[in-house]
Amino acid sequence: MNSSPTPRVRRFSRSVRRAVNSGHVVFAVGLLGAEWAMLLTSVVARSTDDPTLRHSGYRLMQVFALGGGIPFSVLSLISGVLLCLYTPWGLWKHLWIKVKIVLLLAVIVTGVGVVSQFVHRLMSASAPGGDADALPALQTWHLAAVIFQILALIVATALSVFKPAGKGARRSRTPVKPRTRDAEASSDRTGTPRRQPESADSR
Ligand code: HEM
Repeated sequence: MNSSPTPRVRRFSRSVRRAVNSGHVVFAVGLLGAEWAMLLTSVVARSTDDPTLRHSGYRLMQVFALGGGIPFSVLSLISGVLLCLYTPWGLWKHLWIKVKIVLLLAVIVTGVGVVSQFVHRLMSASAPGGDADALPALQTWHLAAVIFQILALIVATALSVFKPAGKGARRSRTPVKPRTRDAEASSDRTGTPRRQPESADSR
């Protein structure tokens, strides 16, 4: 008879979970805010006739990336992974979390691989004596990349609230078990279930 005790799964306490989840929401939605600031600056830099304002706009974008985009995306990912590992959600069990992981990684790769490169090239092309002819193409690609990041973050936020294919889908797939004596024992006369152990979404 194997009597080795089942290893206890480490979980966040309710207050720690709420604290980490609050931080996660601040970082994730803060990232959306930083991207929005990047978009507004991109539109102003693209539409202004003032070369100084245009060049300053591209220099400011570097601040949004270093002070907002990069730290918020890394902190969103770390807090998200912690929430997966120390709550019943799990890292690769639910579709909404899988999609969010892919979306955030796509936002990070686009940020590091595309947006930051374009910001550098836009800064030099908009500088006095820079290759101003290259600006329109660079501006279009940069704008497209930032719009993609914003759409990905909006989808991730909606997924986090609606949690599709989470518990609802799971329940519908599980066959309804006929009520047994035990089930009767675990619910009171009115059929309301007695307090059940913690589920993924009980925060
Ligand atoms: C793409 C950027 C992301 C955004 C905008 C985002 C947004 C959110 C929001 C708004 C919530 C709160 C939902 C609620 O309280 O009902 C949440 C919860 C959660 N997020 Fe994210 N998230 C992002 C990325 C991630 C990633 C990459 C992971 C996993 C690695 C993740 C894992 C989770 C988990 C597990 C919860 C549930 C927390 C709980 O039940 O206590 N998120 N997210």
